[in-house]
Amino acid sequence: MAGRVAGKVALVTGGAKGLGEADARALAAEGAKVVLTDVDDNAGQAVAEDIGALFKRQDVTDEAGWQQIVAEITAEFGALHILVNNAGIVLPGSIEGQTYADYRAQVAVSADATFLGCKYAIPLMADSGGGSIINMASVASKLAYSGIVGYAAAKGAVEGITRSIAAHCLESGYKIRCNSIHPGSINTPMVQNVGRQMEEAGLVAPGGAQAPDPAEVPVLGVPSNIADVVVFLASDESAFITAQEFVVDGGMSMVPAPLVHELQ
Ligand SMILES: NC(=O)c1ccc[n+]([C@@H]2O[C@H](COP(=O)([O-])OP(=O)(O)OC[C@H]3O[C@@H](n4cnc5c(N)ncnc54)[C@H](O)[C@@H]3O)[C@@H](O)[C@H]2O)c1
Repeated sequence: MAGRVAGKVALVTGGAKGLGEADARALAAEGAKVVLTDVDDNAGQAVAEDIGALFKRQDVTDEAGWQQIVAEITAEFGALHILVNNAGIVLPGSIEGQTYADYRAQVAVSADATFLGCKYAIPLMADSGGGSIINMASVASKLAYSGIVGYAAAKGAVEGITRSIAAHCLESGYKIRCNSIHPGSINTPMVQNVGRQMEEAGLVAPGGAQAPDPAEVPVLGVPSNIADVVVFLASDESAFITAQEFVVDGGMSMVPAPLVHELQ
């Protein structure tokens, strides 16, 4: 089935790599006009050229940048129907080990940026006849991982923001749905680097953490596992779904042992 989001305009943040890249590729393949943004110009431009999308440099923590991106989309497309607040960073650290600066950086890229993106995109989405906002959260805010305190806080905030926005859009009569996706462990640059970052944070001994090997970690997903859900939530197939959380983790939050072993 192709063309599931045909004619819709989509904005994907953090679209240069990992899940954002997969989301942008899947939305473009299903007929959306995709704008992808990132702080990584080279990778973002390459993906955009490959899929016939538009790349724009954007640091999602910058409020004025959000206003500019929405103004540019208004000028170039006159509409916005799909917003994927995907950009995020993970800086491992426990409550005693994490610096306040690292904590705030994670909250800024996931939570503050989701607030800003929705704040500035919703008026255009409402004027476009409505649409779908998809916020990338995580199972990290649902489970008890000592080593990612700031990341858990950031993703917990994304959950709460998502529900409030969904309610606001219903109360306002906008035809805008807002849902969150909570990936488990998906094989992207983020996950490939997290072992090294945990070593640097002193959470594991040097050499004690390895990038997950897909062959050995049965709960390690691939980016298309998330992109499939993004396309569903972006399309009219999910027209009656809002204010919901979609845990996409291969069962990891029910059977967490393999991943825990991998990170120890
Ligand atoms: N990979 C996983 O296992 C996993 C699990 C749960 C949640 N998530 C979430 O999914 C999202 C994507 O994760 P990923 O694994 O693809 O990460 P990734 O690190 O592989 O890619 C993230 C992309 O976001 C961009 N980015 C970072 N900071 C930015 C900023 N300030 N402004 C704009 N772009 C920025 C990066 O340049 C990169 O291209 C994140 O929100 C992450 O927290 C990922």
